[in-house]
Amino acid sequence: MFASVEIAGVASCVPARVVTNHELEKLVDTSDEWITKRTGIKTRRVAVEETAVGMAVQASAEALAMSGADKDDIGLIVACTVSGDNLTPAMASSVQKALGIPRCAAMDISAGCTGFVYALVTAVSLMDTLGVNSAIVAASEMLSKYVDWTDRSTCVLFGDGAGAVVLTRSDEPHVFYPVLNAIPDIEDAIVIKKEARSTPFGPPLDERKEYIRMKGSEVFTYAVGVMEDTLRCLLELCGDRPYTKIIPHQANEKIIDCVMRTMRLDREQFFINISEYANTSSATIPIAIADAYRAGWLRQGDRVALVGFGSGLTSGGVVIDWTIPNKKEK
Ligand code: ACO
Repeated sequence: MFASVEIAGVASCVPARVVTNHELEKLVDTSDEWITKRTGIKTRRVAVEETAVGMAVQASAEALAMSGADKDDIGLIVACTVSGDNLTPAMASSVQKALGIPRCAAMDISAGCTGFVYALVTAVSLMDTLGVNSAIVAASEMLSKYVDWTDRSTCVLFGDGAGAVVLTRSDEPHVFYPVLNAIPDIEDAIVIKKEARSTPFGPPLDERKEYIRMKGSEVFTYAVGVMEDTLRCLLELCGDRPYTKIIPHQANEKIIDCVMRTMRLDREQFFINISEYANTSSATIPIAIADAYRAGWLRQGDRVALVGFGSGLTSGGVVIDWTIPNKKEK
């Protein structure tokens, strides 16, 4: 049994600076044609003035305003990031402070690009356990800091951005069927190492800068397999009321195309905005929810599968019944 909650507000915040594929042609040996054909990406946002916390705060504040919930009603903030500004405090605590929420539970989750799905499931579960009326789930990433801008196989793939949802209590459950998984990353297919720091008590360490390292084709194969498995599992759990729309993690449009083909699903069933933002890790799903709502693609009563995968190697999915009328429906 899952708590009776609904998504009552959603918002995103992305940096102002748009970086096109043509700009990357000047940095590495690549082309707009290669990037578009192999990934579906045309542009990404890169933070210049913005911070991960600042974007999380902005998205959370707008989602809160949309939800109509009072900030004093927020009893829980779960944030997720792999590229936050601080080791401590948690991003959730920084959001709490910036929004002026006097007292609540606050913590971060790290589950790679599946972070938002893990955070959403955790928040819904904790709302029941703690007796909380409203909660914020925020994802914010600044992967541009960890991208090796001389490595063409990774630098074209990632971008910065944040998204947040506000959960409030409802008469019936509107977030169901959590599926969370992880398998060991035997091949170290996606790794961002923390930079080594020497202490006076051991030998000097190699303190060079660390960047995203990825074995692209291994990740591709893994991604297609787990997205398919998770979507099939969610379909089974939905029984006689299947989901009709899918908001997937946006890592590469070709991954989504493969899943679409093998599961014989229609393109219209998927919300895809990777061409604009590239892969913003844990933030892709809430940014996509916000865009899908703004575009009128999400409609009241829609049953939607959210599905993600990422480093770890993690994967996960959850089903939501969308309750917020869009402007045309109001
Ligand atoms: N521009 C031009 N050529 C390139 C580029 C580039 N940006 N990047 C790689 N190439 C070259 C390679 O060097 C290789 O050249 P070679 O044949 O001379 O050796 C050739 O293109 C083919 O390389 P592949 O790696 O086989 O290309 P592929 O079609 O597999 O695409 C990609 C690579 C886009 C990375 C793909 O494997 C992929 O998307 N993988 C999944 C990535 C992913 O999902 N990551 C994130 C998951 S977790 C998370 O979200 C953090």
